[in-house]
Amino acid sequence: MKLPEAHRAQQESWDRIADGWSEWVHHNDARKWVLDPAHLAMLGDISGKRVLDAGCGEGRFARMMADRGSLVTAIDLSSKMIEIASGIESAEPRGIDYREMDMADLSPLSDDSFDLAIAYVSLVDVPEYERAIAEIARVMRNGGRFTFSIVHPCFAPPGSTWEPRLAGRIPVRNKDKLFKKIDNYFPASEVRFRMWPTAPAETVNFHRPLCDYAHACRDAGLLIRDIVEPTPSEEVARERDYLREHFRAPFFIIFDCLKAGA
Ligand SMILES: C[S@@+](CC[C@H](N)C(=O)[O-])C[C@H]1O[C@@H](n2cnc3c(N)ncnc32)[C@H](O)[C@@H]1O
Repeated sequence: MKLPEAHRAQQESWDRIADGWSEWVHHNDARKWVLDPAHLAMLGDISGKRVLDAGCGEGRFARMMADRGSLVTAIDLSSKMIEIASGIESAEPRGIDYREMDMADLSPLSDDSFDLAIAYVSLVDVPEYERAIAEIARVMRNGGRFTFSIVHPCFAPPGSTWEPRLAGRIPVRNKDKLFKKIDNYFPASEVRFRMWPTAPAETVNFHRPLCDYAHACRDAGLLIRDIVEPTPSEEVARERDYLREHFRAPFFIIFDCLKAGA
């Protein structure tokens, strides 16, 4: 697989954290209680649909879609992620076709092969995101859907933090969060961080204003038909107070796009 230099660097860093990520991601309450239900509700009935999961990681959402009856092809840039996902597939077969691939170059996949494509918080990791969106659009059939989630650029731009009600305290409970400090919406920028404090490599992702994604969709012939800013259910928030911050400043946004056709 010939990769642009920036994608090669991404591949290396995701390979290095793949083992730890595969543990960490299952303890991520925001995914489990906020983003998963919103993505699944947006998808609706997907049984029998040919689905592409672009940037599938260790495959947790690919498995959820396969469990709902869809025929999933799941790709990731990281060979280590694909190895872990394929190991789970061998142990518990669901018929998921995992492949190591760059979403900005889907040349092994034919035009019009999918009814639905999803990129679950993965486009934020792709330097050449415009090419990736165009490639995903190419492999979808006319009238097919592309749903993708990103970190919400309006409410989680670089450096945004919750101001504590009591100075010096880390605000975990909702009532300890005074307000969210937000700045630097423009310009698009690279963000470097450790996914967890002892992660063996830095993760690099990209903050981009909403218009950048909207323009890339337009240029790829995708119509944005809806957006969702997911929040936890009241019941979930009652038991997990720290998730109430999503009601005050949504951390994710999901786009629901249609391939418009000629
Ligand atoms: C934040 S993780 C999300 C994984 C998965 N969708 C999930 O939510 O569990 C981002 C994933 O995108 C993958 N990725 C980054 N750049 C990519 C690219 N150009 N093509 C395909 N996958 C890519 C990474 O290897 C990583 O597994």
